[in-house]
Amino acid sequence: MAMAPSLLQRRLIVVTGKGGVGKTTIAGAVGLLAASQGRRTLILDGSGASSRLRELFGADSHPDEDRPGEPAALAERLWSMSIEPDGALLEWMQELAGRAPARLLATKSSFQYFAAAAPGAKELVTMVKIFRLAGESSPYDLVVLDAPATGHALAMLDSPQTFASIARVGPVAAQAEAVRSMLTDPDRTGYLAVAQAGEMSVTETLELRAALAERIGVELSTVIVNATMHRRFTGEEMSRIESLRGQGPLSAQVRIGHAAAAAAQAAHERTRFQHGQLKRLRQAGLTVLQVPFLFQADLDLPALTRIAERLDGHI
Ligand SMILES: Nc1ncnc2c1ncn2[C@@H]1O[C@H](COP(=O)(O)OP(=O)(O)OP(=O)(O)O)[C@@H](O)[C@H]1O
Ligand SMILES: [Mg+2]
Repeated sequence: MAMAPSLLQRRLIVVTGKGGVGKTTIAGAVGLLAASQGRRTLILDGSGASSRLRELFGADSHPDEDRPGEPAALAERLWSMSIEPDGALLEWMQELAGRAPARLLATKSSFQYFAAAAPGAKELVTMVKIFRLAGESSPYDLVVLDAPATGHALAMLDSPQTFASIARVGPVAAQAEAVRSMLTDPDRTGYLAVAQAGEMSVTETLELRAALAERIGVELSTVIVNATMHRRFTGEEMSRIESLRGQGPLSAQVRIGHAAAAAAQAAHERTRFQHGQLKRLRQAGLTVLQVPFLFQADLDLPALTRIAERLDGHI
């Protein structure tokens, strides 16, 4: 059996995971890595993170690039764009029904009516748009989808199946089938989960993997465990702790010594616990990549570059 290509060689990488675990950060680093390897890459923002991405890349200073539905340049060969469900619906209706009725139909209330009448329709329209951006005739080689938090992401990904229960024939059914076949083709689409090394986050990641398999019929191969702590203090930190011991009166020395020991112990316990959580993922057969917690107030391009270097050769 032929091996699926590495994630970066595919057309679409879906970055999933719970809210706040670092999806946008990881999507940015993955995009940066792909672009550095020569692939024209679009990071698609499915959760309103475009301004956050531009901030990360220090590309925030171009207000005219702040148009939803329009790509904004982040770096060489790298762009971001937010997904606009209303805009996507208008485009979609224009194609299916012609210009005048489309304008008539694509009002907010008709959109809501349409979405309510046809479960999965809103998500499907969004997926059709993503399908095109990741398709053969797209100007991009790769789309990295910074997906919304798990529940909504799954609703987007299984919209072709959901919609198939309503429309089995016709142009919409054909589109749904095209989307479904892209999402389930390991040559074209890969799935990356972002998690943190906590018990809840790991349990949710295992549930996400099961849901992807059952509902979409795809395999989650790689989990990026973000913001993990180092296993031990560095030598430099240890010697700084050591040097503190020589200063001040004896009582202070003793107290500092105790405090340092307690801190070291706490850090050790924490990394041990994290290690156990990583093991749960590995034992479930998942490939686990660790991205360390970066000690800086705001992540920036050098920080993203570090994360990208960390992932290089592994995805
Ligand atoms: N490895 C890391 N080290 C330090 N801080 C990090 C790391 N990864 C992410 N962060 C910080 O954690 C916060 C959340 O990250 P991010 O916005 O990428 O998460 P998210 O999963 O996209 O969140 P949301 O679900 O809200 O979209 C940000 O402030 C980010 O700077
Ligand atoms: Mg985000």
